[in-house]
Amino acid sequence: MKQIMTYTSCAPQDTEKFAGELAGLLKAGDVVLLYGDLGSGKTFLVKAVCKHWQCPDEPSSPTFTIINHYRGPLPVNHFDFYRLNSVEELDQLGWEEWINETSVTFIEWPQLIENQLDSYYKISIEMKDNCRHFILSKSGKNE
Ligand SMILES: Nc1ncnc2c1ncn2[C@@H]1O[C@H](COP(=O)(O)OP(=O)(O)O)[C@@H](O)[C@H]1O
Ligand SMILES: [Mg+2]
Repeated sequence: MKQIMTYTSCAPQDTEKFAGELAGLLKAGDVVLLYGDLGSGKTFLVKAVCKHWQCPDEPSSPTFTIINHYRGPLPVNHFDFYRLNSVEELDQLGWEEWINETSVTFIEWPQLIENQLDSYYKISIEMKDNCRHFILSKSGKNE
């Protein structure tokens, strides 16, 4: 894992700025794993990135739908595996079909999937004193 940047956000508008930096960095084909407690801002961050990319679809939390897809110049897949209990349940979703070279994929609660991906960005969100600390790192085949 290679750490790329850290960002401290003490207001939603700060997180939108971080989302702007992230939106500039990500390219089609990228996968971003989002780690952080409930309410830490994983879904908020995906919404903010989509806003920067001017997606015509309104992002929403995929907690119950598990897989959301938003159209746009850079199509976005938004997964939330919070409600999955096993790798068997994960395998039944057909998630591989969504991850491709033309879209960007964000995954909340990615613990079940991380071993099945070769390279990805990882964002850990830590909450402390009403602020969110974002740590962005990258994992690759050789990293
Ligand atoms: N600095 C901040 N960055 C992001 N969200 C924040 C911040 N401060 C407060 N919030 C609020 O925290 C909540 C995060 O919720 P959500 O993104 O659904 O969390 P998660 O998907 O991680 O469970 C939102 O209601 C958002 O408005
Ligand atoms: Mg969420």
